[in-house]
Amino acid sequence: MPSADEIRDAQRTAWAGLSAGWEKWDAVIMVQLGPVGAAIIERLDIAEDQQHLDIASGTGEPGLSIARRSPKGRVVLTDLAAEMLDVAARRARAQGVTTVETKVCSADDLPFDDATFDSVSVRFGYMFFPDMGKATAEFGRVLKPGGRLCSSVWVKPEENPWTTIAMQAIATEVVVAPPDPDGPNMFRCAAPGYVSALYEGAGLRDVVEWDVDVELVTESPEQYWEMISEHVSLAVAALQRVDELARERIRAHAIAKVSAFEKDGKVRVPGVARCIVGMKEDASGTRPRGGALSSNVG
Ligand SMILES: C[S@@+](CC[C@H](N)C(=O)[O-])C[C@H]1O[C@@H](n2cnc3c(N)ncnc32)[C@H](O)[C@@H]1O
Repeated sequence: MPSADEIRDAQRTAWAGLSAGWEKWDAVIMVQLGPVGAAIIERLDIAEDQQHLDIASGTGEPGLSIARRSPKGRVVLTDLAAEMLDVAARRARAQGVTTVETKVCSADDLPFDDATFDSVSVRFGYMFFPDMGKATAEFGRVLKPGGRLCSSVWVKPEENPWTTIAMQAIATEVVVAPPDPDGPNMFRCAAPGYVSALYEGAGLRDVVEWDVDVELVTESPEQYWEMISEHVSLAVAALQRVDELARERIRAHAIAKVSAFEKDGKVRVPGVARCIVGMKEDASGTRPRGGALSSNVG
């Protein structure tokens, strides 16, 4: 089992390498993951002066969307990989968002004082942290009493053909070892209740989880393959192990399979994410602004 430092180093290197793919495919990724960002934002009850922390921000979401909703607020975008945050900073400039700052740090060791933020978001970051319990304790520490944490993870592969089509195509040429259940991988947090238990372990209250549908939309089966093979962590890592001919066979296989999802001149491949929200208890034990979370979560 690699150490926490080894996991962080490997993640930093992997995401530095993926940042160009994420920037290139930004428009497609943002449409695909948009419903998840919207679900997170809805549950965080963003005020116009929100002090918000976005963890594993990558190229900036949902932090940038939160900053646009909070003109008098402050949003800190954090990530382990400086190259991903560089893309986030470019996106912020392009969107004219001036109330964000970026900070390179690991989720399990945050350089912020206790009770600094009204809310914390983590869109598709949890599964990559070396110690998810320690990270969740950090989120609780930096939240103000009554503050909210909302994150998202992927549910099981069978419900995410947008990625499993590519992985099954790769598996026709490469032996893809089953991921270490305790190591970073896309589906590490897929079990229902997995992240809720982490929240409850960190003392958060009113923890609720729910599923959100997504759809990856590309112009063609060929574009589907180009996009997936340039930005999905599992696919990029596996493809590094094959030669050009095998890569071409994998591409043909994936394109043939994904063609079944062509509809109205586009390729539309579904997936399912899970969102998890919880609240840091008010010091007095009373319910903070907005009341119990379970009342407004469907
Ligand atoms: C799938 S991307 C999510 C990006 C963005 N939140 C989104 O939804 O578009 C995962 C991000 O987690 C980051 N990451 C991995 N390990 C991390 C850690 N220990 N602490 C903070 N970020 C980490 C990666 O660098 C990468 O940018």
